[in-house]
Amino acid sequence: MGKEFKRTLITSALPYANGPVHIGHLAGVYIPADIYARFLRMCGEEVLFIGGSDEHGVPITIKAKNEGVTPQDIVDRYHKLIKESFEGLGITFDVYGRTTSETHRKTASEFFRRLDSKDEFIKKTTQQLYDPVAGQFLADRYVTGTCPHCGNTSAYGDQCEKCGSSLSPTDLIDPKSALSGSTPEMRDTTHWFLPLDKWEEKLRKWILEEHKEWRPNVYGQCKSWLDLGLQPRAVSRDLDWGIPVPREDAEGKVLYVWFDAPIGYISNTIDCVGDDWEKWWKDPETRMIHFIGKDNIVFHCIVFPAMLMADGTYNLPDNVPSNEFLNLEDDKISTSKNWAVWLHEYLKELPGREDELRYVLTANAPETKDNNFTWKDYQQRVNSELVAIFGNFVNRTNVLLHKYFDGVVPQPGTPALPDVEAERDVRLAVSEMERLIREFRLRDALREAMNVARIGNKYLADCEPWKVAKTDEERLKTIMYFATQIYATLALAFEPFTPFAATKIAESVGIKKLEWDEAGNFNLIAPGTKVEKLPLLFEKIEDSVVETQVNKLLETKRQNMLKDWRPDPVKAEQSIETFDKLDIRVGRVVECEKVKKSKKLLKFVIDDGLDKRVILSGIAAYYEPEQLVGKEVCFLANLPVRQMMGIESHGMILSARNADGTLSVITPSAEVQPGSQVG
Ligand code: 2FM
Ligand code: ZN
Repeated sequence: MGKEFKRTLITSALPYANGPVHIGHLAGVYIPADIYARFLRMCGEEVLFIGGSDEHGVPITIKAKNEGVTPQDIVDRYHKLIKESFEGLGITFDVYGRTTSETHRKTASEFFRRLDSKDEFIKKTTQQLYDPVAGQFLADRYVTGTCPHCGNTSAYGDQCEKCGSSLSPTDLIDPKSALSGSTPEMRDTTHWFLPLDKWEEKLRKWILEEHKEWRPNVYGQCKSWLDLGLQPRAVSRDLDWGIPVPREDAEGKVLYVWFDAPIGYISNTIDCVGDDWEKWWKDPETRMIHFIGKDNIVFHCIVFPAMLMADGTYNLPDNVPSNEFLNLEDDKISTSKNWAVWLHEYLKELPGREDELRYVLTANAPETKDNNFTWKDYQQRVNSELVAIFGNFVNRTNVLLHKYFDGVVPQPGTPALPDVEAERDVRLAVSEMERLIREFRLRDALREAMNVARIGNKYLADCEPWKVAKTDEERLKTIMYFATQIYATLALAFEPFTPFAATKIAESVGIKKLEWDEAGNFNLIAPGTKVEKLPLLFEKIEDSVVETQVNKLLETKRQNMLKDWRPDPVKAEQSIETFDKLDIRVGRVVECEKVKKSKKLLKFVIDDGLDKRVILSGIAAYYEPEQLVGKEVCFLANLPVRQMMGIESHGMILSARNADGTLSVITPSAEVQPGSQVG
């Protein structure tokens, strides 16, 4: 703590290339990392921002098998999709590599070899689950079963997604092979283990004593792991997808994905800067920051540092800012349930709104607790914050400057009190923003950036240049000069958060390079500077836009319900005589209307062949009354009369309850005379 560094290496978790990225990934890892990288660059600091795809691991091979393609096909497809969508959102990686690259195979193999040559691994033969039908060992997600901690019956061999426990395949109760569905047997297999216990004391001292400043969620998780006591961890697997273990006696074994993936940060550094890479990893004057999601904490704070310690020549991370999870419309984001807002779809369906997503996901970032994304909140934040505060000030200033001075910044006179106060407040806000970013409190930092716009709006409201214009040209010049300085400061304050808008502002005042030193400098835009006209920075989101998105999610929910639905078990056997006691008939709907003050009930007048009868039915949510008039329906004719909402109902209209809970009235497939019996 308090140490001076020369440069910063920023890494962001390498997403698995087996699916697109969603807002949970963005809010948790990539937007925070990008904000931080952009900010440090603006400060003129030497920064390298590493991204890339994690292309090994069992889920990729399972997906390939399900689709009948090769794992390479899968990772090629998603690497491209993810890389392009990150670019679309303005994530400024200096490199976006892949763990299937030749550089990475070499780097990871050398890393293993070095540890191996230092005797840092334990070679051990243990019993592992083996699928006799598929003829292979069942690593990680190749096996599912019941979680020993929470009883979830579909826990994976490496993790229970319900309670978050990290597991080994052999921990599962009643394991089943995900390959063949068969019950696995135990067989001997040999693997290489990293003895984490050897590093426990060092890790304990490093984290618990020297990094008390880490976020409480990160520190707390590390402490729990350390307090439980660390065990040796296998770094190899019996798989045919991955980097071969570089030893002669390791045929058929590959490096465990969590051994090779973090080395991917090193490989991608090499791909980016070539021979210079060591200064980024080994020079003690380089600071390393890992941005990750909370499910990655143990790997980045314990396992990878233990690997680095075992090597002995690398720096350890200085901080590991990890966010909690983001939920979507009150439900856990789930790739398998398609319960997500996918970045590539967002960019296609809401073009030109990249800053909005960045803004909302930062303003609502799950920094200290799980948070919820809703489209309603998105609309609200865009309309009442981005449009009404930030956009409003920028556009008003630009328009006023053009109205009174043809867009040319005027020469100010002696500042008056509101000018001095505005300058002071802007300076305070930007210095607070810097402090908060450096502490990884990006939500609060964004609030300070927005405060600059608030100060600007208040300044205009207090100074009323539109009134002053009629009486005092000199004072008007000073006001518009000061407003322009706030306008330019907004380009700096928002560059990390909403870079597209920031660039537009900067370009309009001719700033080529945004330098943080200039934030709050009220001599930044010289008198005489021509400010270009600016179209509206942000546009209001209409209800129809968010309704489309909400409907898309509702449809997903419906599809999931249909997929998961199973009919109820058949009821106890009954005799035909019992059935015969029920008098089911066809009737024609003569009239149908909503029952006043009831959301559920429709009132039918049915021609039952003998007479007209009134029947009430709770299907108002699924039909407009006029849809049913003239239709033939089936009804139960011999039920006792029942009163509902003060109306007598003489029977029951039969309908089927669909898997999604909706009701559908049963009608005969051909015309049938009213009064005909059903049976
Ligand atoms: O959780 C994940 O998505 C992993 N692919 C993250 C890997 S981070 C790093 F180690 F590469
Ligand atoms: Zn569990």
